[in-house]
Amino acid sequence: MTFRARHLLGIEHLAPDEIVTLLDLADTYVDLNRRTIKRTDALAGMTQINMFFEASTRTQSSFEIAGKRLGADVMNMSVAQSSVKKGETLIDTALTLNAMHPDLLVVRHQNSGAVALLAQKVNCAVLNAGDGKHEHPTQALLDALTIRRRKGRLQRLTVAICGDIAHSRVARSNLLLLGKMENRIRLIGPPTLMPSGVAEFGCEVYDDMKAGLAGADVVMMLRLQKERMDGGFIPSEREYFYRYGLDAEKLAYAKDDAIVMHPGPMNRGVEIDGTLADDINRSVIQEQVEMGVAVRMAAMDLLARNLKAERGRQAAGVMV
Ligand code: CP
Repeated sequence: MTFRARHLLGIEHLAPDEIVTLLDLADTYVDLNRRTIKRTDALAGMTQINMFFEASTRTQSSFEIAGKRLGADVMNMSVAQSSVKKGETLIDTALTLNAMHPDLLVVRHQNSGAVALLAQKVNCAVLNAGDGKHEHPTQALLDALTIRRRKGRLQRLTVAICGDIAHSRVARSNLLLLGKMENRIRLIGPPTLMPSGVAEFGCEVYDDMKAGLAGADVVMMLRLQKERMDGGFIPSEREYFYRYGLDAEKLAYAKDDAIVMHPGPMNRGVEIDGTLADDINRSVIQEQVEMGVAVRMAAMDLLARNLKAERGRQAAGVMV
């Protein structure tokens, strides 16, 4: 298997062959997760700590389920009840947990770069569960697995990523991943929610939904991230839905078999029409959630294999 990474900090650091390795392994975990007995011992005896400094439903619960299905001992640190509330820094918190010899540390933090900084201070494998506006690598990987299973390939697709691009780590990780896999990427959104210099990523930029969606294979909607906005980025939610919210009328400009994606949580009636989000003939939103568990199992399994190999070399006195 080709997977060289020591940590999973971002898609930026993954090569296309590593992405394919991870998705192939995740496919096997999809099968396992559909069985009645869903256990393996890939992480038996290992300790996984989840540290979420920002709210999460999907990512935190799927990392917990993934670790348990792989046989790890999983601990969810409750940030709200921790000494972070007494002023302990992120690094001191990480060093404290590191002293308890975890093998895998899953971290979500509101600051871009915080997870990479933390990875330099600990002895275990670190997985980025979302850092500020920077990256959300497992989200892009689960999106890729969903697309690959639905479309039969992950190349030469036209993917429209729509909405609040400026505040979205999901958009950035997807741009990187889909670009590495040689897809045509279109970013659609109001100029106020489009970061400057985004064309450097080799994508097309649109501020008109119908033009941007024309002929798309995949339509990926993004949440309007109100918590990261410090000013008036949109005139009103009603106006935003009229121009950029996905409904059946706008979707008709994409290919007839285009799939509709959303990372969740959704603002129904703001970036996506609720009926369309629930339409099992077009929407793969629940499938994305299912793929999330399998992708996180694959990521932790591969990182654990590398960690065990590294420790084996160290024990044998080989320089690494
Ligand atoms: N997509 C995503 O990261 O969702 P949560 O915030 O619920 O984890």
